[in-house]
Order: sequence, then C-alpha cells, then structure tokens
Amino acid sequence: YENKYNKNSKYYDLLDRVNLHFNKNLEKNEKALDYLKSRSYNEDDIRKFGLGYASKSFIDLLNNFDNEILLELGLITKKENKVYDSFIDRITFPIYNLNRKIVGFGARILEDNANMPKYLNSQESIIFKKSNELFGIYDSGEKIKEFDAVILVEGFFDVLRLHKNAIVNTVASLGTSLSNNQAYMLSKLTKNIVIAYDDDTAGFNAKIRSINILNRYGFNIKVMSLNKMAKDPDEFITKYGKEKFIELLNESCDGFDFLYDYYSKNLDVKKTASKMEIINKMQDYFSTISNKIYFDIYLKR
Ligand code: UTP
Ligand code: MN
Ligand code: MN
Ligand code: MN
Ligand code: MN
Repeated sequence: YENKYNKNSKYYDLLDRVNLHFNKNLEKNEKALDYLKSRSYNEDDIRKFGLGYASKSFIDLLNNFDNEILLELGLITKKENKVYDSFIDRITFPIYNLNRKIVGFGARILEDNANMPKYLNSQESIIFKKSNELFGIYDSGEKIKEFDAVILVEGFFDVLRLHKNAIVNTVASLGTSLSNNQAYMLSKLTKNIVIAYDDDTAGFNAKIRSINILNRYGFNIKVMSLNKMAKDPDEFITKYGKEKFIELLNESCDGFDFLYDYYSKNLDVKKTASKMEIINKMQDYFSTISNKIYFDIYLKR
C-alpha cells in the first residue's frame, strides 16, 4: 500500500485539492445550496459528506489545476481538439476508498433533464474503478463490523439520508450493478446484508442479480421492500421518517424467499412440473450456495 500510495500520490493530492475547490464553489453558489436545501440537506450534511459544486464554467478546473493530471483522471475531457471540464453545473460527491483517499467523484445535475445523464461519475482511471468502490465504505466500515450487518443501497443520497438518520452501516454500490469485488469487500466486514435497492423495475432486477453474486461470498441475504410507498430509501425516510423505515427494514425477507416468490408467481407449486420449473429458474441461485446444509434446506423447500 505504501508504495502504491507514493506512486499515485500526485493523483490523490490533486483529487483532494479539486474537492476543496468544489467545496468552496458550493459555499458561494445559492442555486446549488438551494437545491440541497430543497432535498432537506443542511450545512452539517454538506460538511460531513464533503459535498461540493462543479461550476457552470467549462474551464473552472482547467484553469486552476495541472491539466495533464486532470486529463489522466478524466476530470477534463478532450472533444474535437478542445478541452473542457467534465463536470459542469453539478453537485459533487467525493468518493473515498477504504484508506480515506478520494479516488473519484459522483456529480448530479441540478435540474432533471431528459437529454443529460442525471449522474456522472469520474471516468475510470489508474486509481478509480467504479466496481472496486463502495460509496460510504470509509465512514461505515467500523460500524458494519460493530453491528455485524450492512445495508446496501443504490445511490449517493440514500447513503446520505440513512447516515443522517443514524443508520450508519450503509453503503451504495454506485448504481444497480453490484460487482463481485464489491461483494468480496463487504464479506470481509460482515456476512449479514440487507439489500435496500430502489422500488422500481431497475431496482427489482438488480435485487435478483445481486442475490446470486452475494450468495457466492456466503452472505445471509435479506431483501427489503419499500412496499411501493416511495421510490428509494432517501425518499421513503423523507416522507415517512426513520421509525417507519426501520419497521420495514425489520420485515425484510430472506433472499431465498424473494427469489422463490418471484419465480413461483402464477404457478401451482403443488404440481411436479411447476416444481421443476422453479428449480430450473433458480439454478443460478443453487449453484452459488456454498453451504451444503443451506443447499439441502432450500432445495427441500
Ligand atoms: P437513481 O436513478 O435511483 O438515482 O440511481 P438517485 O440516487 O435516486 O437520484 P436522485 O435521488 O434523483 O438524486 C441510483 C444511483 O445510480 C447511479 C448513481 O450512483 C445514483 O446515485 N447512477 C444513476 C449513475 O451512475 N448514473 C445515472 O445516470 C443514474
Ligand atoms: Mn471556482
Ligand atoms: Mn432508481
Ligand atoms: Mn433518490
Ligand atoms: Mn434512487
């Protein structure tokens, strides 16, 4: 680690300074501050999570930092011989790795616009691979061990909202595609996980996919449902509060049951043909169970 850090220190240093720059931009930008306020995030949250603002100017970073390094980190982008900042007029979220180094940023647009991606992440670089990072892991790591459980969410604001409500053993997979490596990283901290992905089609499909990935690393998997009351944990807690969220969290179902309910829908499970069909559909799941005893119990069910 030491060697790797020295080799990459110019990138980490630059990312730190860019983050401070974004922080200062935010302090001065009413529109961005109002946006955060409208989502009920205050100055404490901004400070705690190091939120910032990427300026409306196309050349803010370009004019203030080493262009060669900016380009290597994808913080500026070359287009037809012209170079621009990659993040323009966006709220920024620093992404910390397990060693508390900033390795990249997430950046959210201020007004939803169908022609522009809602979020941008730092481009993949020598030090940033999205599939190797979990948003919130640095702050949550110790708590995940202490509680011996982790809550897995999709987005930046879900992590912010849960941490803000003292549910700090929460991390985000930075979207819906949990990677093997992210599952491995979490398995070093705990074997108990609750998937609290969004209550939409993408989130539902991601739950199914993630169960099989997590299964390979020996997790006890629970799946939380927001009962269509909100689209994600951030919105749920904003609408109904923390107590109601914890109530639903405690009602999370077993990963097996989640898959079984889904694959047995509209089938008469007493029929042998139906049983065969379900087992076929759940082949991926069974092939990822590492514990022989669990395998037998689930197969019987
Ligand atoms: P969502 O679309 O659910 O966004 O994507 P969100 O976090 O709830 O957004 P808000 O509440 O409207 O601000 C979940 C996560 O997927 C990644 C981001 O990490 C986001 O937080 N994502 C989403 C992207 O990387 N790019 C996108 O265009 C959209
Ligand atoms: Mn500036
Ligand atoms: Mn979603
Ligand atoms: Mn959201
Ligand atoms: Mn969401």
